[in-house]
Amino acid sequence: MSTMKMIPDAANTAPVSALPRRKPVLLIVDDEEGPRQSLQVIFKDDFEVLLASDGPTAIALAQQHPVDVAITDIRMAGMSGLEVLERLKHVNPGIEVVVITAYETTETIRQALRLQACDYINKPFDVATIRAAVQRALQRHTLEYELHHNAEHVQALRAELQNQRIAEQIAQTRGEIYASIIHDINGPLTVISGYLQMLNQRLNQVQRLEASDLEFFRERLRVITRQVTNCVEISRRYLSYLKRGGEDATSGRVQQLLGDLAQLVRVHPSAQRHEFVLHPVTEPVAVRTNGTDFIQVLMNLAVNAFQCSTEPHRVEVEGQLLTEPLDLSRFRDTPRTRFLNMEGFDNTPPLLAMRVRDNGPGMPPEVLARIFDPWFTTKDRQQGTGLGLNIVQRLVRSARGAVFVETCSGEGTTFTVYFPALMLPTEASGAG
Ligand SMILES: Nc1ncnc2c1ncn2[C@@H]1O[C@H](COP(=O)(O)OP(=O)(O)OP(=O)(O)O)[C@@H](O)[C@H]1O
Ligand SMILES: [Mg+2]
Repeated sequence: MSTMKMIPDAANTAPVSALPRRKPVLLIVDDEEGPRQSLQVIFKDDFEVLLASDGPTAIALAQQHPVDVAITDIRMAGMSGLEVLERLKHVNPGIEVVVITAYETTETIRQALRLQACDYINKPFDVATIRAAVQRALQRHTLEYELHHNAEHVQALRAELQNQRIAEQIAQTRGEIYASIIHDINGPLTVISGYLQMLNQRLNQVQRLEASDLEFFRERLRVITRQVTNCVEISRRYLSYLKRGGEDATSGRVQQLLGDLAQLVRVHPSAQRHEFVLHPVTEPVAVRTNGTDFIQVLMNLAVNAFQCSTEPHRVEVEGQLLTEPLDLSRFRDTPRTRFLNMEGFDNTPPLLAMRVRDNGPGMPPEVLARIFDPWFTTKDRQQGTGLGLNIVQRLVRSARGAVFVETCSGEGTTFTVYFPALMLPTEASGAG
């Protein structure tokens, strides 16, 4: 039998659906002319009605039109109503289907519900019953549609938020890097300005330069030159980080680096009045990271160790070569200990463990929990910006190293930094 498409008069249209901008589409599938026509009469005002007299026609119509709800008789010649239901769901799972049954067993009804029929109506039915069933189907369809639509909307919003967060993160990292440059250059600049003052004073005191004065000037100028080189290296390192987001892992000979560190620490204002001991590393070893990074890490830790108390105390720096990987199960975060960079740590020997220990007041657990956060400080504005340990953790992460902190109230704090290292030929170590 042929199909008939009927679009009701727009003036008679009463909106039933919350679906946007169009009249809902109802597909009526029945191989008997009578019921088909009466259903059409019932729904023509509220729906755009499509009529099909057999299964294949119904499927073809559903493929061509945006069907919202379908009514199908179960018992039909050729393709059964159950099959129509199944195939309509295949075309579009969003189509809600009401099935009309006559003498079917409960098993058929169960099967229809299993195939996601929205409702079933027994023949003969009255107008109110079928209207109510179709109305429920349409509501369900609208809800499903909105749910789906909203889920997509939420997904899009979430993606947008994610993008924004990444952009913010990048901006924040940049801001932190700029602040880091200023923070790190500040140390060498303090030394430079101290030495320049010394030179000025000496220049003002003497009338004529003696040989001993020349030596004095030469010595100070050497330190100044080294510090200026340091500043240049620091800014170059960060600029390359900003450009490429990474670092070159050029290695540094540890003996020489520790010599430079000792120089820097001894003239640092924070070190005054405290005891400083640096145990040399005797093995010919290099760290697999930028030498300036290595010094910056230890310098930050040493300065913190000096600044932990104004009472005279002792700060010790010591290096140890490890030829076995660390047993990482030993390290746990507790109120008194913290391990940083478990995931990114390259635990392949040889490793260099650099320990910075003080016998100061230690840290309470709530301070220990936050020490690596940017801008976290317990010092006043003059003394601390709270960036030192944030820089340390960034440098250690980029070196694929790790940090272990142990602290005890009243007894002091030990920071151990583990650096991936490499052994050098013995002769080469003497040259450093
Ligand atoms: N050895 C230590 N003993 C006790 N507390 C420490 C020690 N090292 C760090 N801290 C605590 O960790 C905080 C953060 O240290 P961080 O180096 O990041 O910042 P800061 O030293 O306060 O300031 P900045 O280093 O920027 O000048 C310090 O303010 C201090 O409370
Ligand atoms: Mg600090």
